[in-house]
Order: sequence, then structure tokens, then C-alpha cells
Amino acid sequence: MFKTRKRKPFKFEGFVPYDKSITHRALILGLIASGETIVEGFSKCRDCLNTLNCLKKLGSEIEIKENILILKSKGINSLKTPLSPLYVGNSGTTIRLLLGALAGSNVQTVTISGDSSIKKRPMLRVINPLRKMGALIYNNTAPLTLRGKKLKGISYTIPMPSAQVKSSLLLAALNAEGKTILKGEILSRDHTERLLPLFGCEIQKTTTTLTVKPTFLKAAHIKIPGDISSASFLLALPLLVKGSIVTLKNVGLNITRLGILNIFKKMGASVDIKRTSFFGLEPVGDVTVELSGNLYGVEVKKEEIPFLIDEIPLLAVVATQAIGKTIIEGVEELRFKESNRLKAILLELKKLGVEIACLKNNLIITGPTKIKGGVVWHHNDHRIAMSLAIAGFASEIGVTVDGIDIAAISFPGFKEYLEVIKNL
Ligand code: S3P
Repeated sequence: MFKTRKRKPFKFEGFVPYDKSITHRALILGLIASGETIVEGFSKCRDCLNTLNCLKKLGSEIEIKENILILKSKGINSLKTPLSPLYVGNSGTTIRLLLGALAGSNVQTVTISGDSSIKKRPMLRVINPLRKMGALIYNNTAPLTLRGKKLKGISYTIPMPSAQVKSSLLLAALNAEGKTILKGEILSRDHTERLLPLFGCEIQKTTTTLTVKPTFLKAAHIKIPGDISSASFLLALPLLVKGSIVTLKNVGLNITRLGILNIFKKMGASVDIKRTSFFGLEPVGDVTVELSGNLYGVEVKKEEIPFLIDEIPLLAVVATQAIGKTIIEGVEELRFKESNRLKAILLELKKLGVEIACLKNNLIITGPTKIKGGVVWHHNDHRIAMSLAIAGFASEIGVTVDGIDIAAISFPGFKEYLEVIKNL
């Protein structure tokens, strides 16, 4: 049982764990590249550890020295056919990206499965276009069995703004005959596009298309910034505990991940972003958040959703303390995450006395509300667990989350960070 409650203003400065999305991609690109890929500062979250185990079964030699990971691979045509199924745990990024990476490989047959949440998640969004490329994938949901097969490049319009779909197809395109052109909803986190050139693949980008030619990747040296999604949970605290200041250093400042900080600003917070360097093509720097005036409700448009998709449960929590209505438009994708996040937020925040509703895929929160406090359920979802723990900071009685350790799926040490903050 982990309890958080209202506290007096505080000051916190520190670092957050390394970025999960970039770690997954650096590892999977390392698998299909030939040579020794060095990943400096990799995420040790549970999802990334599952990716690592999958890669070992596919023949990668992996050595870890503190925060440096060295992955040796002979490339896409020399993978090992695993003797037992690959287990991705809770990680949608792992299963969807591996499907793309392995579809055109030499792997004879491989089954990929995961936990009960993974078995419920929609996979046809990647399987359908991969099948158009010639992929042999049996079943439409996990467990999925795949046979490596010669692929052909396609022109495909991505129907939903999903970085996992986009990345899966980019990975498959590397080992297909002819070029692949992706159109449609391509505006989502773009870490794969930023990493590919470091592995020797030229990718052509326009505002409406991505074009990739088949490429044998060469190993690379990748440096990973702090995870801005993990950082957001701590950066939200000054909005709930007025007068507090939180500074986080060396976090990734990729524009496709900064949606939540823009919204915090619109709500009235002061958000100071200082870019200090680039890790490869990823901007990195320090972020400070504080609130001196009032916090106001805000409207979030559908087009902004891809840039804060993982932070919507947290934003719903912050909105409970804002003056007026917060309307978050076009949140339908939340139904297909690690849990049905829409249902989870509505249920748990209502338990805490929040006025919240979902009308035609628009989430509406009316604030400011007193957070009643009590015991809430994380719906087996790391981000729901962390968002509810943050909500506790706006509650006199306090909010108790049973099983907060689930946060380690994306944010190892989350509970320990909050313990430090509680005791400041
Ligand atoms: C991710 C993409 C997003 C996000 C997920 C991580 C990624 O999923 O919600 O946590 O690393 O590509 P979708 O692509 O399904 O939107």
C-alpha cells in the first residue's frame, strides 16, 4: 500500500530514468544491424528488460556494464530462430516493433506472446500492412506466430497516429524489396526516424510522407536522454502543490513528446525549458516547472493528442485542480492502451469525488475539486497507478494505491522518488 497526501511546498532537483521509447528502438535496431551497438544509458524499466530478453533469444550477445549496454549482432540475415516463444510482458512497443523487424528476417518460425493485457491489445493495425508487404503472421492477436519471408515495399496510409505502427513498418521496410512510402497519420513520436540515420539508413521526410529504401544497418553508438514521460509525473507536482519547484535535468526534449509541457504552460504554470545538447538527433536539456498564479482549465485539440498520448491520465488528474473545465478532445486511442485507460480514469477519479465525464470521445473534467482520498485501483496499468499516486498530493486524507510497484514497467524507482519528495 502506498499513500500520498497534501504537503507543504517543496523544491526538488534531479534526474529521471532513461527514455523507454528510445531504448526499445536502439536495442531493436542494434539487433538487425551488423556489428557492436553501444547504448549509453539504457532504460532498465520492465518493458525494456523484456525487449532485452527477446533479443538474447534471437541471438544477440548482450553485455552490461553499469549504464552501458553493448549488443553484438550479425544482422538481419543471421538471427537465431528461438527455441521457445518470445515473451514481451506488458510491452506493446516490443511486440509491434519486433513484428516489423522480424517479418523480413531469416527467422524460420517464432511465436511472440505477453501478459493478459498484451493478449487483448489490437495487433491488426500492424499485421494488416505487414501482410500487404508479404509478411507471414498467423493469428490476429497475441500469441502471434511469424515466419520470416521476403517482403516487398508498399505505399501505405497509416489510419491512426501511432508511433508503434509507423516504427514497425519502417523496420520492415529496411528489409523489403523496393521502397516503402508511409502517408496518413505520420505525426507521432519520431524516435525511429531520428535513430535510423545513425545506423546508416537515409530516410526521406516531408510533412506528409516518410520514404525508406531497403538498407543493411550498421551498428551505432547511441546515447539515451532521460524519459520525458516519466519526468512529467514529477513536473506535474508543482501544479498540485502550489509554491513548489521541480527541476529535472538531461531529459529528452523531442518536440513530439513535449505536448504535456505545452498544456501545463497553457494552464498557467511557468515551464522553463533549457536545451543543453543533442544526443544524436535528439535534443536534451533541463526543465523547471512552478506555479505562482492560478491554474486554469484548458482545451486540448485532437491534433495535439499524439504528442501527449501517455500523459492524458496525468493531465486528467492535474485538471481536477484547475479553475473551470478542461476538455481533452479525441481520446479514443486510450481504450487500447495497457488497460482501457478511459474507463480506468473515469472510475477511479469518480471514486475520489472528481466531476469527470466522457462525451463522444471528449474527456471533460470540471475543477477545482477536493480530492476525497481513499483506496484506488491501478487497473494493472503503470501510468494509471502513477497518475493516482500524484492525485494524492491534492488530497487532505490522502490517496492509497495498492501495488504501486507496477510503475516499474516504465519508471523504475517511481515510489522511491515520491518517498524522497514526501520527506523533503
Ligand atoms: C510508444 C507509442 C505510443 C505510446 C507508447 C509508446 C512508442 O503508442 O502510447 O507508450 O514507443 O512507440 P501508440 O503507438 O500505440 O500510440
